[in-house]
Amino acid sequence: MSASVTITDVAQAFPGRAKARLALDGIDLDIAPGQFVCVVGPSGCGKSTLLDLVAGHTRPARGSVTVDSARISGPGPDRVMVFQDHALFPWLSVEDNVGFGLKHSGVPEAERRATVATWLDKVGLTDAAALHPHQLSGGMRQRAALARAFAMRPKVLLMDEPFSALDAPSRDRLHVELQQLWADTDTTIIFVTHNVREAIALGDRVIVLSSGPGRIIGDVPVTLNRPRVVESERVVALAHRVRGLLDEADQLGITTPREGGDSYVSI
Ligand SMILES: Nc1ncnc2c1ncn2[C@@H]1O[C@H](COP(=O)(O)OP(=O)(O)OP(=O)(O)O)[C@@H](O)[C@H]1O
Ligand SMILES: [Mg+2]
Repeated sequence: MSASVTITDVAQAFPGRAKARLALDGIDLDIAPGQFVCVVGPSGCGKSTLLDLVAGHTRPARGSVTVDSARISGPGPDRVMVFQDHALFPWLSVEDNVGFGLKHSGVPEAERRATVATWLDKVGLTDAAALHPHQLSGGMRQRAALARAFAMRPKVLLMDEPFSALDAPSRDRLHVELQQLWADTDTTIIFVTHNVREAIALGDRVIVLSSGPGRIIGDVPVTLNRPRVVESERVVALAHRVRGLLDEADQLGITTPREGGDSYVSI
């Protein structure tokens, strides 16, 4: 199951000391059902703000965000978020964590158990089903978080730097596993990261944001064969080009805050 996501002329602002501060501006983005889109940009450029808008945690100051042409009016089970911090419940076993959303969606126990078993198997945690989060490695915890998210069969999976706290070998393994899970399910994914190589390794497409406020300065298609790994020569070469875009934005002053009589000042 997957859905299209359409972001049209979106701006987002937050209260500042004197005036509202603009965090995102002029964001136009059409994401096809099942597409894997990565978003990169400097810290504070509005990446998490963009995910919050699609999740329905916040409403845009201007513009619209739709999923399958329906305007988002709040959170829903069709959109699930995975964070850097796995956000597992420490008092629940891995199995109960993975089944938590299903239980609260009213999925009957037998069906829930079968679904949980399937997803634990897909992420290689069958033997860890009865353990609690503190008994897992960081990589295992993120795997459990992935299983919990995919078990909900969301149409859109929103991922906010989910692997950035992991050591490199765990991250590399999860890159390959996530590409496999995505291929198996065809879920639409929006994946935010600071790491340009990670974005190229995972995405069908990499959206590059500038800061102050966040604007799209690049939309880079990635057609390399999968599964991809961050250290592959072609991933490294493309990452170099995307970093060039970010440097160029810096040199052109796109990151310089605007001054003047706007109703907003830039962050
Ligand atoms: N709830 C909020 N209230 C006020 N300002 C906010 C809020 N959420 C985000 N901001 C501001 O909006 C800007 C964008 O923040 P956001 O968290 O989206 O950046 P980011 O690109 O995700 O950064 P990072 O890479 O560090 O996670 C920042 O300047 C931040 O201070
Ligand atoms: Mg963020």
